[in-house]
Amino acid sequence: MSQQYLTSQSGAPISDDQNSLSAGERGPVLLQDWHLIEKLAHFNRERIPERVVHAKGTGVYGKFTLTKDLSEYTLADHFNEVGKETETFVRFSTVGGEMGSADAERDPRGFGLRFYTARGNHDIVGNNTPTFFLRDGIKFPDFIHTQKRNPQTNLKDPQAMWDFWAANPEAMHQITILMSDRGIPANYRQMHGYGSHTYSFWNAKGERYWVKFHFKSQQGVVNLTNEQADKLKGIDPDSSQRDIVVAIKDGNFPKWTVNVQIMPEAEANTYHINPFDLTKVWPHADYPLIEIGELELNRLPENYFAEVEQVALAPSNLVPGVGASPDKMLQARLFAYADAQRYRIGANYNQLPVNCPHATKANHHQRGGAMAGTQCPYHGGQTGGDATANYGPNTKEPLVESVDLKEPPLRLDGEADRYSRYNQNDYEQAGNLYRIFDEGEKQRLVETIAATLSQVTPEIQSQMVEHFTKADADYGLRVKTALEIN
Ligand code: HEM
Repeated sequence: MSQQYLTSQSGAPISDDQNSLSAGERGPVLLQDWHLIEKLAHFNRERIPERVVHAKGTGVYGKFTLTKDLSEYTLADHFNEVGKETETFVRFSTVGGEMGSADAERDPRGFGLRFYTARGNHDIVGNNTPTFFLRDGIKFPDFIHTQKRNPQTNLKDPQAMWDFWAANPEAMHQITILMSDRGIPANYRQMHGYGSHTYSFWNAKGERYWVKFHFKSQQGVVNLTNEQADKLKGIDPDSSQRDIVVAIKDGNFPKWTVNVQIMPEAEANTYHINPFDLTKVWPHADYPLIEIGELELNRLPENYFAEVEQVALAPSNLVPGVGASPDKMLQARLFAYADAQRYRIGANYNQLPVNCPHATKANHHQRGGAMAGTQCPYHGGQTGGDATANYGPNTKEPLVESVDLKEPPLRLDGEADRYSRYNQNDYEQAGNLYRIFDEGEKQRLVETIAATLSQVTPEIQSQMVEHFTKADADYGLRVKTALEIN
């Protein structure tokens, strides 16, 4: 192996990395020690803001193999041609904790998947649950404030959490999932993933379908009890991260079977559930799972900061053949992620190796901004240089628009307004879920709810008992009894 020499950031060989330059053996340090200054200055800049949610996480590369051709529904490159392999990256996370928080918390898990497709990056930034607490993004900042720390005490705040939920019964379904035996995944390998939202597919004929993504763990699903989780948080706060790092290093590559539910566009108008309401699932009896492929994770990043901390997964990273839907939460997310990433990482975050397209070139007219000019190490692309124009259209080196890949028009009607509670049924699916739990699961669910709900004011407790009762009379009665209230 050839010798590697220590250098400065600009490549100059360093003769001494252990002793500062000083005026005399016992004298003060000299300002001209630019090597010392470079080290200290870089150290001071080694952090970027952590993600405002999902701050603690871990990432792994892998591949998606298509087992069912979906050209009938979508012209997306990675969903056409059986056997096609597409490089992927997945970042798993918890939601509410900070970067150093424990993995074994009762909290949803993030399941953020990127496909590096031949037509650009397609991200499905989902969770381990098929639903969410809310159906309108305007409530998201308030909700997250109640999940994070109290602005005065800097402590987690059960009063704020239940106060918010009491006023937002659309959260009942997700509360029931979170507080149940499904609420603390043992690790990231043994849990399912869901796109959660309704997205759209469109095909070469211009026909649109609504679609939901499901990733079923081939490792099975394992969750922890409260007692197991409390112990594990003390023994190994990084338990889920360690589990997946060890598995990949051992060649024990985790896999998920990828499924979709598909609804023809027109059926959305008549289906008894609003298909764009993120607090609801589509029952499989109505829209069965269609198996389309396999996701395998098999390669750890080389540099955690560069690849995991700086990965910029975004629901707005869509490719021809896959689109959004009118889901109000998704609509808010289409704005929120790229905006967060411009702030968190910088204007040119898409030029970083983990974020630039790996299977195609990015060619556009945007230049300038902090750190501009990086060539994607995979395929280059026009992100700088004198030879290319920074405006379009141009005659110098015209970039052609892909008119044949245009999304079909979406028919809309109705009056612009702020529609509250556009689907009133906040309780049915929460009650259905409660009713499929066995006796032990029901007991543990109620104990977990009571342990935290007992810490809040009687008024909020009563409001929550009302909500649980509306979901299922027995559910409400048991929570009330556990809280010892009249
Ligand atoms: C991360 C906003 C709802 C899953 C984030 C980030 C923001 C955000 C700003 C940090 C992004 C970054 O800095 O890179 C929102 C808003 C929502 C919403 C405004 C509602 C309107 C959801 C929902 C899900 C979800 C419904 C799942 C179904 C995730 C995941 C991450 C994340 C998995 C971490 C991505 C990663 O690993 O880098 N969210 N979020 N979010 N969000 Fe959301």
